[in-house]
Amino acid sequence: MTYENLLLEIENGTAIVTINRPKAMNALNERTLLELQNAFSGFAEDDAIQVIIITGSGEKAFVAGADIAAMQSLTVLEARQFAKLGHQVMRHIEACPKPVIAAINGFALGGGCELALGCDIRVAAENARFGQPEVNLGVIPGFGGTQRLTRLIGKGRAMELIFSGSMIDAAEAYRIGLANKVVPHDQLLAVTKKMASTISNNGPLAVRLSKEAIHNGLELDLERANQYEAELFGLCFATADQKEGMQAFLEKRQAEFTGK
Ligand code: HXC
Repeated sequence: MTYENLLLEIENGTAIVTINRPKAMNALNERTLLELQNAFSGFAEDDAIQVIIITGSGEKAFVAGADIAAMQSLTVLEARQFAKLGHQVMRHIEACPKPVIAAINGFALGGGCELALGCDIRVAAENARFGQPEVNLGVIPGFGGTQRLTRLIGKGRAMELIFSGSMIDAAEAYRIGLANKVVPHDQLLAVTKKMASTISNNGPLAVRLSKEAIHNGLELDLERANQYEAELFGLCFATADQKEGMQAFLEKRQAEFTGK
């Protein structure tokens, strides 16, 4: 697939995906969603990639939502299909075996906030603004926002954000746990790449199994989730990375992981 709306770079094991529709504040239309889906299928299979960063092009927006111009005249069935496509893509990103970090360089509104919620970690620039303004348009969040925002920041705060349609700044997003970290705008990519590199230096299989344990465990009760964790912990002992990681510690040297 050739990408019209994404820019892709790979640097030291980190794939950087830039959503590139700056004239429309990087709004997500069907094409962009399909491109994201395709790109993430490739990342999952590419052994050279350990971590993925998603960001937006330009100075102002990460993603200012789903494309309002494209949505305006949808029929009921088309609107439902569009929401389902968004769900599928966010789920695909969430289920990607490798960690995904959103580097939020500006507005993350509506579908843009939902895209950030589909990522594992959110690093925000000081100028980032978050919100679910769909009710201002007479619709509800439709790319998973009513669910993932609630799970991440709790019901009361999610309801306030969604019912009011108000935007919050990066500091407030950090305070309520929507952003993991807030950094000056000009350091956003450098800090996010450094985080990616810290993750990449760890045992890749262990990082992937941790992600799986967290995501899948959240869907289970604690008893079964702990059982699942124990199974995955056991599985680590089938890997060369476990042997290398523990041996390197005991030999007081840096581990050299192979992802095997
Ligand atoms: C399409 C968009 C857009 C969007 C901005 N643009 N957001 N186009 N869809 N979501 C376009 C504008 O129309 C404009 O195009 C250009 O980007 C610049 O935007 P301005 O409004 O002129 O910029 P500014 O005054 O700086 O305001 C920035 C903004 C505002 C605060 C981000 O654009 C805004 O409120 N955007 C809409 C945010 C929103 O409601 N998002 C939720 C969408 S619904 P022109 O051609 O005039 O230059 C959603 C549902 C998801 O996401 C679920 C679906 C199933």
